[in-house]
Amino acid sequence: MSRHLITVILVVIICQQGFASRILGVFPATSISHQFVYRQLTLALRERGHELVVITPDPINDPTLKNYTEIDVHFLYEDANKIVNCVSPPNKTTWLEKVQDLAEKFMLMSQRILSHSVVKKVYAPNSGEKFDLLIIEMLFWQALLPLAKRFDVPVIGVSSFGLSLHLQHRIGNPVMPSHPVHWDAEIKVLGKLSLWQRLWNLVYAWRLVHFIETDCLPRQQMIARKYFGNDIPDIADMEKNISLVFVNQQAPISFVSPNVPKIINIGGFHVSKHIETLSQDLQKTLDEATHGFIYMSLGSNFKSTMLSNKTRGEFLAAFSQLPYIVIWKFEDILPGRPDNVITMKWAPQQTILAHPNIKAFIYQGGLQSTEEAVSYAVPVIGLPILGDQYTHVNKMVSLGVGKKLGILTFNRMDLVEAIRSVTTDVNYKERMLKLRDLMEDKPYDSLKNAVWWTEHVIRHKGAPHLHSTTADDPWYQRQDMDLIFIISTVIWIAFSITLFVLYKLLVYSINCSKDNRQLMSKKKRA
Ligand SMILES: *[C@@H]1O[C@H](CO)[C@@H](O)[C@H](O)[C@H]1NC(C)=O
Ligand SMILES: *[C@@H]1O[C@H](CO)[C@@H](O)[C@H](O)[C@H]1NC(C)=O
Ligand SMILES: *[C@@H]1O[C@H](CO)[C@@H](O)[C@H](O)[C@H]1NC(C)=O
Ligand SMILES: *[C@@H]1O[C@H](CO)[C@@H](O)[C@H](O)[C@H]1NC(C)=O
Repeated sequence: MSRHLITVILVVIICQQGFASRILGVFPATSISHQFVYRQLTLALRERGHELVVITPDPINDPTLKNYTEIDVHFLYEDANKIVNCVSPPNKTTWLEKVQDLAEKFMLMSQRILSHSVVKKVYAPNSGEKFDLLIIEMLFWQALLPLAKRFDVPVIGVSSFGLSLHLQHRIGNPVMPSHPVHWDAEIKVLGKLSLWQRLWNLVYAWRLVHFIETDCLPRQQMIARKYFGNDIPDIADMEKNISLVFVNQQAPISFVSPNVPKIINIGGFHVSKHIETLSQDLQKTLDEATHGFIYMSLGSNFKSTMLSNKTRGEFLAAFSQLPYIVIWKFEDILPGRPDNVITMKWAPQQTILAHPNIKAFIYQGGLQSTEEAVSYAVPVIGLPILGDQYTHVNKMVSLGVGKKLGILTFNRMDLVEAIRSVTTDVNYKERMLKLRDLMEDKPYDSLKNAVWWTEHVIRHKGAPHLHSTTADDPWYQRQDMDLIFIISTVIWIAFSITLFVLYKLLVYSINCSKDNRQLMSKKKRA
């Protein structure tokens, strides 16, 4: 009897665990560090027994991975590579202008994905493909959202960094241009903004939202119509109705802000549990660097050829003054390289950061690199180049675990001074160790949590219970802006009327007293 019961229980458990779904993942970002984040999620879902079809420019291409089909859209790199060089000339373009430029490219990317023959075969009306969920990278690819309509599935959005301003607005989060949470605000300085800077940020934030609403979205909608037919719903609505958004924003290393419940913070899960081994040469060099070594990498998107001669010269001049070995991820031949500088085309970053002799990490402020620096407790020197990098470096500086330099403005003295500070002042390292403890002290594993939420959405075919009605309100009703306007207007009118009446009374009383005086003097004369 009891054996039967156990069998029944076991069968029930196995059935529950083994609910296998088909999931479509669309991750167009042409940046390997961002793809690493999505890859961890999709691989974990596969481990759970789900079947995945993933559209990505960086496929793993591992034929042993069963139930994991990749559609390679590597050609997207051609469109994107034109974007990144914002570092050589001191370019005074505003963030809004950059977004306007990016929007064109993203539009092109949406079209190229939807017109790709293999992708087309998946979403063709008679393809016979069935899915239970769409996971899509959130940025400016709204034309891809009708894929969810096509398969009649809920959508989970995912971002490998903080959500951009218009998406925060779309899902009902407050737009707070004076708050450092917006990495795409116009002015991103550390510390309190002045009144003027706040005003500037307010104007630019709303211009950005306005641009996306009135320019970007209608054009994305047209692309969507072209590929999915004229009867698709409003893509802005689809974006608003998204079930969940996974956002890489771990509280200890970001500027925290109020979030609607459909935002689920993820993060840190691309940091490896098993780091790869170093080449013998490099292992030997690092082991022998008993005075310590410094690692420098400006990330995977930025190519070292984009550095101007002058900037490169300042780096080399500074490095030649150091008692440390410097490992520099540099894709080219580096002329005039001092003896203590070693260049590598590609570097196993996590293994290098994990080496006990490392003293500091010079980087561009990318979020994934920031997470790795914290995981291995290495103090940083950030030279942000674009987008969210300024925000992450600002956060590191505010936590006292790093220094910030301007990539276009620093000189050799600044760099030597910054390296001296973070390597000789033990406080940097100690604060970094504390930060690491804080990051690791959480109630659950980020990746397992993300998998749980994904299955939650599949089980319930969406998550409307997490939808905040703030997302349905027009902009002027959020934070009661219209009411504040009305009340201000009423107060202003009342104040004006009072002033006017007082003025009239004053004039009247002056005239009266004048008349009186004249009357008196007439009486006296008489
Ligand atoms: C592949 O997915 C199907 C369900 O779609 C499942 O039944 C099967 O066990 C999975 N295979 C592997 C090797 O995980
Ligand atoms: C700045 O960037 C814009 C667009 O990316 C470009 O058109 C312009 O020429 C650049 N300015 C300078 C000074 O290079
Ligand atoms: C969004 O959700 C609302 C409320 O559930 C629904 O009425 C509307 O049709 C949805 N829109 C789209 C495009 O899915
Ligand atoms: C760059 O520097 C090298 C030597 O470091 C020099 O030979 C070359 O002329 C420089 N190029 C420019 C464009 O300044």
